Amino acid sequence: MDKLLITGGKTLSGTIDISGAKNSALKLMAACLLTAEPLQLTNMPNLADTRFLSQLLSSLGVEVYWPKGASEAHFNAAQISSTIAPYDQVRKMRASFNVLGPLLARIGHATVSLPGGCAIGARPVDLHLKAFEAMGADIVIEEGYVKAAAIRGLEGAHIVFPFPSVGATEHAMLAATLAKGETVLENGAREPEIADLANCLNMMGAKITGAGTDKIRIEGVTGLKGGTYPVMADRIEAGTYAMAAAAAGGDVTLQGAPVQALGAMVDALRQAGVNVDIGEGTLRIRRNGTALKAVNVDTRPHPGFPTDLQAQFMALMATADGTSVIRENIFENRFMHAPELTRLGASIAVRGQEAVVTGVAQLKGAPVMATDLRASVSLVIAGLVADGETEVSRIYHLDRGFERLEEKLTGCGADVRRTGAEDG
Ligand code: UD1
Repeated sequence: MDKLLITGGKTLSGTIDISGAKNSALKLMAACLLTAEPLQLTNMPNLADTRFLSQLLSSLGVEVYWPKGASEAHFNAAQISSTIAPYDQVRKMRASFNVLGPLLARIGHATVSLPGGCAIGARPVDLHLKAFEAMGADIVIEEGYVKAAAIRGLEGAHIVFPFPSVGATEHAMLAATLAKGETVLENGAREPEIADLANCLNMMGAKITGAGTDKIRIEGVTGLKGGTYPVMADRIEAGTYAMAAAAAGGDVTLQGAPVQALGAMVDALRQAGVNVDIGEGTLRIRRNGTALKAVNVDTRPHPGFPTDLQAQFMALMATADGTSVIRENIFENRFMHAPELTRLGASIAVRGQEAVVTGVAQLKGAPVMATDLRASVSLVIAGLVADGETEVSRIYHLDRGFERLEEKLTGCGADVRRTGAEDG
């Protein structure tokens, strides 16, 4: 297994191109199951997670043409040969669960493994299943599998979510496109990826309004067509490099960044004393010698501060002047990076859902271990500012969601190398 070796202390300068959004691509790929016509996605990020979902789609009978390294992928679900997504596939990546709704809507039945727990908390799927039941599906859970059937098709429903779950909102929206009549989703999530999915589905002939607000209306149609759609830019990747540049210092321009989607992150960086210039599709991040100020953040559903940038912000605050309180409100167990950052010399006390970070003058390189996707990149950010060498192991977590990370960082002057020999 690979690991990353980072020699810290270099400031960053240059331009980083932002890739297509992983979290959007995964749902857009699931949308191909809704139509017998080909769906072509452009600006596709080449990541372990997107490649993994394309394998699962192939196993369901979807013809996939996506050459290695290409940013265009073709999915043709003219023939669906299986409606079963087994445990081994859903366990590895929770977003695989999102094939259930499209299969149910198009074929009338599906059997998909429950995703189970994961490193950042229990992550149930009850809200997904309640939405399908409201649409008339019969759901049985047996031996770890969700068996869903709607033999006469799904019916439109009025669904009020108790919590704005991103996955449940997207999943219900996917299924409702082919339901009979109107579906209204209230208190749904407003993340930008939801509007991206709605735009793609509308291009395919769906009738969705209100995506991006907390009330989404979907007028069911009898069939969807194919087409070509560009995956939106990755706001979490952009936010991550913004924090890397802010932490290491220097002058970095993020090209093709989804600037409208990054408001809460930009506010937090500016409060920390970082210069952020917003252009058309660009974010320029500058910090030249000025100290970072401690800032408190609370993670919230969009448009609040994203949970997927919480770990990176903690790495940034590790060397800020003063004490910052970081509160995680979305997931119950998302501070596994805190003890690893402490190994690099950070001073962090975790109390329940809060982490209190007392800035230190200097971090020091050490061996650390990645525990989940966003946690792992927070260790890379800390490694960029630490004195000496930081070795990050278990970077398969990183490869799930960051395309060409070393290349993007070394292109700006960072010293980051991948080595192949990892023990244990
Ligand atoms: C998605 C993102 C993830 C991001 C998260 C929150 C993808 C592939 N992943 O995950 O990167 O961190 O949104 O922005 O897009 N919940 C329930 N019941 C449910 C569903 C969710 O209780 O049926 C809870 C979860 O346990 C969690 C909270 O709701 O505590 C938020 O989860 P949700 O918004 O659904 O996140 P995901 O869609 O899993």
